[in-house]
Amino acid sequence: MKNSAAMIGAGLIGRAWAMVFARSGWNVRLYDSNPAQLADARAYIGPSLDEQQAAGICDDAKAALARINYMSSLDDAVAGTQWIHEHLPETLELKRAMFAELDRTTARDAILASSTSAIRASKFTEDLAGRARCLVAHPVNPPHLVPVVEICGAPWTAPETIERARTIMSEIGQTPVIVRREIDGFILNRLQGALLTEAMRLVQEGYVSPDDLDKTIKDGLGLRWAFMGPFETIELNAPGGVADYCARYSDFYRRLAAASPRPDVWDAGNAARVVAALGATLSASERARRTRQRDRLLLALRRHRVSLHDNPKHEKTDDVDAAG
Ligand SMILES: NC(=O)c1ccc[n+]([C@@H]2O[C@H](COP(=O)([O-])OP(=O)(O)OC[C@H]3O[C@@H](n4cnc5c(N)ncnc54)[C@H](O)[C@@H]3O)[C@@H](O)[C@H]2O)c1
Repeated sequence: MKNSAAMIGAGLIGRAWAMVFARSGWNVRLYDSNPAQLADARAYIGPSLDEQQAAGICDDAKAALARINYMSSLDDAVAGTQWIHEHLPETLELKRAMFAELDRTTARDAILASSTSAIRASKFTEDLAGRARCLVAHPVNPPHLVPVVEICGAPWTAPETIERARTIMSEIGQTPVIVRREIDGFILNRLQGALLTEAMRLVQEGYVSPDDLDKTIKDGLGLRWAFMGPFETIELNAPGGVADYCARYSDFYRRLAAASPRPDVWDAGNAARVVAALGATLSASERARRTRQRDRLLLALRRHRVSLHDNPKHEKTDDVDAAG
């Protein structure tokens, strides 16, 4: 079968990936060993695709929905597919067992990918005959709304596998980023980790409340980060660009970098301090409401970005601004 993918695990991430592939024209088989999860996924996917169509990131929700099949047999799910993507819970034993089975039972030319957040592919593919076709394709939650995907092979992953993965991810509308060699946390979670560690430290030492820290990102750094990365940002923060910025501010950043690492900011006591400062833990219904709100806002942001990119006037306005 042409352009067909198997999603292994129908939890938060598996159901989201199923929609990403289906809205791009792929046939999808969504498999889970727990029938209740398949039923949940089915109930979630229909309305979500409708919302995506309304936001302009899915051309035809009905057609996408019809391309997703819900499978209770692993063998049937993977038969004849070219892209097999594992989204099981984050434990090494589960990944190792599933990859061993997939490597035994699937077509040799199919790519075997894992959504793992933090386990290197080399930990669960080393002994496989087909290890050259295995890699990590790590998404950001929820991948149907946040396009970046980190592609990271093990040392034995074939370069052609990485290249095919990059092409497929681009074709289905995601933004692939190649992690050139294995490192804990890949790229995104290392950046997030650096920021969170500093945030925990600033709260621990009483410099700022968690609430004001969140404002610093959402009404400060985060506004720019919705459309430009840190290097693109500093290019504009000094008249002579990145080199000028580094010359002006490197002493300050060097002092920060030299400050001793503080792993104790992750101690339970400090986590409890942050939790207490944020107030009561969310109820299940409030958590669900905020998750829906996050998804609606992400959709609105995606729609806004699509409208900017699709609007030639915007490019023109930019030129005029730059000249002026
Ligand atoms: N949730 C996130 O924010 C996020 C982000 C990026 C990557 N990831 C990664 O994606 C993967 C999946 O995470 P999730 O949040 O979707 O987890 P989840 O718990 O929501 O879903 C896991 C699914 O796997 C199913 N499952 C468990 N064992 C199985 C088996 N042996 N065979 C078939 N199905 C089985 C479960 O029934 C469940 O539906 C993890 O590796 C996680 O680290 C998660």
